[in-house]
Amino acid sequence: MRTHKIAAIPADGIGQEVIPAGLAVLRALAERCGDFTLDVEHFDWGSDYYRANGRMMPEDGLETLKRFDAIYFGAVGDKDLPDDITLWGLRLKICQGFDQYANIRPTRVLPGLTSPLRAVEPGDIDWVIVRENSEGEYAGHGGRAHRGHPEEIATETAIFTRAGVTRIMRTAFEIAKSRPRRLLTVVTKSNAQKHGMVFWDEIAAEVARDYPTVTWEKELVDAMAARMIQRPGSIDTVVATNLHADILSDLAGAVAGSLGVAPTANLDPSRRYPSMFEPIHGSAFDIAGKGVANPVATFWTATMMLEHLGEPVAGRLLMEAVERVCAAGIRTRDVGGTATTAEVTEAVIAAIKGANL
Ligand code: IPM
Ligand code: MG
Repeated sequence: MRTHKIAAIPADGIGQEVIPAGLAVLRALAERCGDFTLDVEHFDWGSDYYRANGRMMPEDGLETLKRFDAIYFGAVGDKDLPDDITLWGLRLKICQGFDQYANIRPTRVLPGLTSPLRAVEPGDIDWVIVRENSEGEYAGHGGRAHRGHPEEIATETAIFTRAGVTRIMRTAFEIAKSRPRRLLTVVTKSNAQKHGMVFWDEIAAEVARDYPTVTWEKELVDAMAARMIQRPGSIDTVVATNLHADILSDLAGAVAGSLGVAPTANLDPSRRYPSMFEPIHGSAFDIAGKGVANPVATFWTATMMLEHLGEPVAGRLLMEAVERVCAAGIRTRDVGGTATTAEVTEAVIAAIKGANL
């Protein structure tokens, strides 16, 4: 029997609702498969922990997490605390502390969901956005001087390193190579940003030489935004900087019908540290505590976690169950349904157990 050690951190807002839903589904899946178990430990870190302890997680939090095979994460963000405290104190601290440099964001229109794009049918969109997750515009470099004075200055410097750009390019080419279309779009803004972005284009061309079977192309980020709306079928795998991919992935989530279904994986492909799996949607305090949060993104990210843990069969089984439930119309209200989080979760568990829906 294979055992995987999972650290569950629901954290804030609807994270508290979707992570328990995800764990219930994972328990049912492990039972159904019978050849692996998940050893789950819960952590109460987040904004409430901050109110009690003055920090988002204990000082030795990363040390504690190192023993795990994966981290299953809900969301951070609190209406009474500054975002930079909650994010940098927990989620970004884990991403950067564990060098989770590859952020993988798949997009598909799941069966039964409707894209706001008129001509898009389920199956038409199948994208993977590969987001650089360790440097770029999120490097945290910069500062403020002359606070409050008319000459006040703030800088926010994007950092691009040869090692950082090369490794994300390699990850993106590997993913593109593993997919049927073998097509990679390298997104930059190298017409206007003539240092870092030209560097990206150059490194893409260098890495591409090792992937002769992958067709690759360059696209400027503004043109890419338009192309995602106008010619969504022309896109397969996309690689972009931390900020560009952040923006494009929200657009992708919207095009797929809802951010409530969009998953993400923060990977350390070198496997020195645990990787972290989370829904994209955030803490959503407007609907927190109402039992109506869409758990599908949290289920989908669980399939990515299973794949990363070497359980691809279980991952596929879970994704099929989720798709059957969506197709059967058991959906939360953000995707046009009336079901609660619990109802969607129960239906996915039933589908895993092989029930007719
Ligand atoms: C995301 C989010 C985060 C990001 C925020 C909450 C800092 O928008 O995961 O896309 O920009 O990385
Ligand atoms: Mg975002």
